[in-house]
Amino acid sequence: MKVGEMVKLVIAVILTIIAVFLGFLTVKQVVAYHSAKNLYREEDKSKKIKIGFSLGTLKEERWVKDRDIVMAKLKELGAEVLVQNANNDDEDQLKQVKYLLEQKIDVLIIVPNDLEKASYAVSLAQKEGVKVISYDRLVTRSNVDLYISFDNVKVGKFMAEYLVKRVPKGNYLIVNGATTDNNTKMIKEGYDSVLKPFIDRGDIKIVKEDWAPNWMAEYAFNVTDEVLQKGIKVDAIIAGDDALAGGIIEALALHRLAGKIPVVGQDADLAACQRIVEGTQAMTVYKPIDKLAEATARMAMKLARGEKLDVKNTIYDGKYYVPYYVIEPIPVDRSNLDDTVIKDGFHTRDQVYRNISVSR
Ligand code: GAL
Repeated sequence: MKVGEMVKLVIAVILTIIAVFLGFLTVKQVVAYHSAKNLYREEDKSKKIKIGFSLGTLKEERWVKDRDIVMAKLKELGAEVLVQNANNDDEDQLKQVKYLLEQKIDVLIIVPNDLEKASYAVSLAQKEGVKVISYDRLVTRSNVDLYISFDNVKVGKFMAEYLVKRVPKGNYLIVNGATTDNNTKMIKEGYDSVLKPFIDRGDIKIVKEDWAPNWMAEYAFNVTDEVLQKGIKVDAIIAGDDALAGGIIEALALHRLAGKIPVVGQDADLAACQRIVEGTQAMTVYKPIDKLAEATARMAMKLARGEKLDVKNTIYDGKYYVPYYVIEPIPVDRSNLDDTVIKDGFHTRDQVYRNISVSR
């Protein structure tokens, strides 16, 4: 064999050996990578999913239910849940979200106290790759991963539809909730869409439309008392929620008008349901919180696992179109309270009918 051929053969053998060795190394790497990944996946799978729940407030009765049911549903699904209550304080909500992020949460569920100010807290979560669910109230201009709520436009529609059927002509007083809550804009969109033709015809006149900071019942009391003190005739009242309706009806009672002017609200608070069977409040909009909590828990777990959400609907948050999971609210008055609020166990019959003797 000539020297040249010999050299070529030696080079070929060396190259083959190197190639085989590199191949072996690569396979070893790939195997090591996958077993590490499987290990990580096993570890990851065994790592408990951690969910942070930042509530803007627990002031209204419903939020206590939201907190308890969301926590219970998430625990049922195997998650660890950390809850914070900002007590209507924006600074505290930001501090609390920072605390939750330090606890290495996988998903943040937030009820913003302020639709805009909460956006910064959301951006901190997004920077850390934490998924964000805007619960019941929308955090605007933030591109959250999911907005889930009841149809707040329908809430406003149901309120006005109930009143125009009973008071198609007259003076209306409206005390809506906080302007820092995007829901009040949606509720207004709803009642405006129903009242407009009546107003355009001159049948209905809005004597006053006001917005209660932090949804404060005292504020609703003062607005109503002032209007009545001025001797302005009022024929129907829309309250942003049942807590505000409570303040309004207290003022009506002061002027011996409780039960004489129909007042509508939302949330089906226990006190409101009692007022409805006692006749001082006409109607409320019932929002079955367990449906909201159940869907939220299910989708929070999906987001934590990096799974896609099956939400087709979107809503515009002022800058982005975000996935929007919407749940149907239910108008409730004395005629269907038993078949809705009580049947669902939202309140017991004894609790609601506490002040009036009813045939069992
Ligand atoms: C709204 C909510 C209402 C009511 C209100 C006061 O955002 O949709 O159900 O509770 O806050 O907290």
